[in-house]
Amino acid sequence: MTALVQISDLHFGAEDPVLVDALEEKIGELAPHAIAVSGDLTQKGRRGEFEAASAFLSRLPYPKLIAAGNHDTPLFNIFARIADPFARHHKRMAPGAVARFCGERLVARTLNTARGVQLRPDWSLGAVNLDHAEAVAADLAAAPGNFARALICHHPLVNPAAAPFAPRTRRGEAAAQLLADQGVDLVLTGHLHVEFAEPLPYGDRLTWAIGSGTALSRRLRGTPAGFNAVIVEPDRIRVQIFHSGGSRFDLADEHVLERRRREQSGA
Ligand SMILES: [Fe+2]
Repeated sequence: MTALVQISDLHFGAEDPVLVDALEEKIGELAPHAIAVSGDLTQKGRRGEFEAASAFLSRLPYPKLIAAGNHDTPLFNIFARIADPFARHHKRMAPGAVARFCGERLVARTLNTARGVQLRPDWSLGAVNLDHAEAVAADLAAAPGNFARALICHHPLVNPAAAPFAPRTRRGEAAAQLLADQGVDLVLTGHLHVEFAEPLPYGDRLTWAIGSGTALSRRLRGTPAGFNAVIVEPDRIRVQIFHSGGSRFDLADEHVLERRRREQSGA
């Protein structure tokens, strides 16, 4: 049973319309318990793009955890990016989103890593507020013993080996270490438009960094459009990779991940 479908980098405004219908159909077949959207719902942060993203997500009748990406701030409005970079995102995404999902052996939360501006030339890179990360990790750690813990954010926290470019997330390594220390099992991210599954290099190395490809964008970086499905089993986590073959999505690969052992009480 699919606990969670992770879709990322939808980039409405630059989406492939054929894939929109194909994605909706495949998610319906998988019937997940929840959906994680790991950022970049829009291309330029325009109102119409958010409305298209919102209309699409509203057709998916599942709890939705939605993290913002760097494309979800108004690209051409520097004043808005300084004053309230996520106003459009919150207005159109918050009504259909949940802050926390708990079910099907999984607890999940989002963490914002996107910024409207930064004190470095490339404001599109990620940054972590460690107080926020600590609070989210502590909440996840309080889940029932045998539940897998998942955090959803846009930017990879540590540069993945499979990355086509380095995400260079500010305070990302400190956040990754903190999450590993708190026993978070999955860190689900987007941004790179390529999929990967790698252990974060901290603690028992059973905190897995999972990247998703772009679900709908025509901006591909060496792999087809795709998304991930997460299945939580008592002693392992399976991450299935779905790729677009043009007009439909099909299972292309699967990562079978070792799970941290926990006591079974409290489930
Ligand atoms: Fe991004």
